[in-house]
Amino acid sequence: MNEQDPTTAGREVTPSSGHGTAVRLDDGHHVGGGGIPERFTNPGLPTHVPRMADLTEEAAARAEKQVAALFSLSIIATVLFVVFYFLVDIDQTVFVPGIGMMNASHLSLGLTLALGMLGIGLGAVHWAKTLMPDEEVVEDRHPMRASDESRARVVSELKGGGESSQITRRPLIKYTLGGALGLFAVPLLLQVGGSMGKLPQKSLSLTFWNGGPSGPGEEPTFKSMRLMKDPENEPIKASDITIGSVVHVLPEGLLDLEHGVLEEKAKAAVLLMRLEEEKIQSQKEKDWGYQGIVAYSKICTHVGCPVGLYEQQTHHLLCPCHQSTFDVTQDCKVIFGPAKRPLPQLKITVDDEGYLVSAQPFREAVGPSFWERG
Ligand code: FES
Repeated sequence: MNEQDPTTAGREVTPSSGHGTAVRLDDGHHVGGGGIPERFTNPGLPTHVPRMADLTEEAAARAEKQVAALFSLSIIATVLFVVFYFLVDIDQTVFVPGIGMMNASHLSLGLTLALGMLGIGLGAVHWAKTLMPDEEVVEDRHPMRASDESRARVVSELKGGGESSQITRRPLIKYTLGGALGLFAVPLLLQVGGSMGKLPQKSLSLTFWNGGPSGPGEEPTFKSMRLMKDPENEPIKASDITIGSVVHVLPEGLLDLEHGVLEEKAKAAVLLMRLEEEKIQSQKEKDWGYQGIVAYSKICTHVGCPVGLYEQQTHHLLCPCHQSTFDVTQDCKVIFGPAKRPLPQLKITVDDEGYLVSAQPFREAVGPSFWERG
C-alpha cells in the first residue's frame, strides 16, 4: 500500500529545478523542496545555453590549447624580458617607424612586460569563458528562524534566570534598578548636549568685517578695513594679485586681537581671486570687485568647511568636505554638491595708496545654511 507523504497530502507535487520537489499548496502558492518557497528555489534565472566546449570533447580540447597558448605567450614574453634586461644597453636607441628614435631598453622591456601580463590576463578570461562552469545556480540556505523547541528553551532559561536572581520576587530591587538605569542616561545626554555648544544663531551675520570684534553684545560700526594676507598679516595692493592667483585674507586688526582670534577668524576668513575681467559674467561681481579681483567668504555654505581648492582654468572653488563646487564667474553660484546657496561676497575696492579694502561688510550670514541667521 502506498503511504502518502504527510507533508504533501492535499497538494499537487511537481518537479522543481533541481532543488528537491516543488509543491503547490491548496492556496495556489508554491514551496520548493524542504518547504522553501519556489520564488527562492527558482527565482527566474535564464535558461543555461551550453557552449561548444560543454558539448564536445574536441571543442573543450581546442579551448584548452588556446588557453595554454596564451599562457605560453606570457612565458615567452617574460623570458624575453629577462634576456633584454641583461643584454640591451640602457643608453641604446632604436629607430621605430612612425615614431622615431626610442630608447631600446625601455621599448623592449615595456613591450615584453606588457605581453607577459596580457598573456596571463587573456588566458584567464578565455579559460573562464570556455571551460569554467558558467551556469547560474541558487544556493539554498537553512531557515534563519530557530526551532520552536529552541525558542521555548531560551524563554524558559530567561525566566529561570530572572527567578534565580529573585528580581521577580523583590519589587523594591526591580523598581529601583529601573529608576537607576533610566536616570543614568541623563548625565550622558547633558554631556553630549553641552559639548556641542550653543548654536551660533544670529552671530554668523556679524563678522569682523562689520568693523571689529563681533562677539555677543558687540555691534560694531562699519569701517573700511584693509585686506590682510593670512598668515603674514600684511596689506595687499591690487597690483600684487596676479590673474589666476588665490590669496587667503583676513580683516585688518583681527590677528592683533588679544582674545577670540580663532572665533573671529573662523567667520571672517576670505578668499581673494583675480580673474580676467571679461570672464566675469555677473554685473554684481564687476561692481563689488576691483579690476577682476573678487573676494568671497571661505566658509562653505553647506556645513562650514573651509573652501580651499581653486581651479584657475575653470574658475571653480571646491569644498573638499563634500565636493560642493562654486563658480567664481557667476557670483560663486553652486554648480555641484550639497551646498544650497552661493558663498557670500565681500565688496572690495582700493584706498588712496592702492591697498585693497572692504567697501561694506558681508550682506548675508556666512557659513552653513541650516543655522538660524539674522
Ligand atoms: S561643507 Fe562644503 S560641501 Fe559640505
